[in-house]
Amino acid sequence: MTPLGGPDRAACVREMFGQISDRYDLMNRFMALGQDRAWRRQAVSAAALPPGGLLLDVGSGTGDIALEALRRDATLRVMAVDFSAQMMQVGRRRPGGQRIFWCHTDALQLPFPDATFDAVTSGYLVRNVIDVRRAFEEQMRVVKPGGRVVCLETSPAQRNALQPLVLFHLKVVIPLLGYLIARNRAAYMYLPQSTQAFKTPYQLALIMESIGLKDVSYHRFMFGTMAVHTGVRPYEP
Ligand SMILES: C[S@@+](CC[C@H](N)C(=O)[O-])C[C@H]1O[C@@H](n2cnc3c(N)ncnc32)[C@H](O)[C@@H]1O
Repeated sequence: MTPLGGPDRAACVREMFGQISDRYDLMNRFMALGQDRAWRRQAVSAAALPPGGLLLDVGSGTGDIALEALRRDATLRVMAVDFSAQMMQVGRRRPGGQRIFWCHTDALQLPFPDATFDAVTSGYLVRNVIDVRRAFEEQMRVVKPGGRVVCLETSPAQRNALQPLVLFHLKVVIPLLGYLIARNRAAYMYLPQSTQAFKTPYQLALIMESIGLKDVSYHRFMFGTMAVHTGVRPYEP
């Protein structure tokens, strides 16, 4: 994808996810060698939801995190939002997809009152939005005081002995799989490009703190290529 800014970029991102929606889940399983469910489970655990709690999953796509949350605790009520109708259509058809409330909307303008949800999660969303700070502000606004905002995201490859291997996977293996499986090499060139151009986990944590989230922490895994960030909405602003 050509580097674009603002609404043009958002429109391109939405169109791209629409194009790959049918193959998105299959591609994830191949790219991550079946590990991606475990990563999403980490995000769900980090949300620390109470039994029967209300979860919002932002940029839910085909509902991977939302479904994982329901697998973990069937008493939860889960709302999934995304601006790609096609991604959500695929999610609705998945086993368990009917148990999720789906909402077609923009992560930067959530149509929910303040302090509605017990926790808010996002998986691989913030790298794609045109305003990361605004995305977190919206998530903090709709989570209840004391509730957690959890973000699972890819991180730029770290400079270490494994960097060449990680870059080979990102720049060669993923676009090749994208071409073979999703029949869309461009979309799977965007993934490594946007990952490498994105913020480090430390920088992301600073943004979360700067909007007022407390106890911000992050956990890196998969050789530093992924991170789960957590922050808590304070009781007093
Ligand atoms: C990489 S997918 C991740 C999907 C899912 N969370 C997962 O873990 O597989 C990113 C999703 O974020 C959505 N997205 C990107 N920008 C968005 C925005 N501004 N508002 C709502 N959804 C957005 C895309 O449509 C896409 O479905």
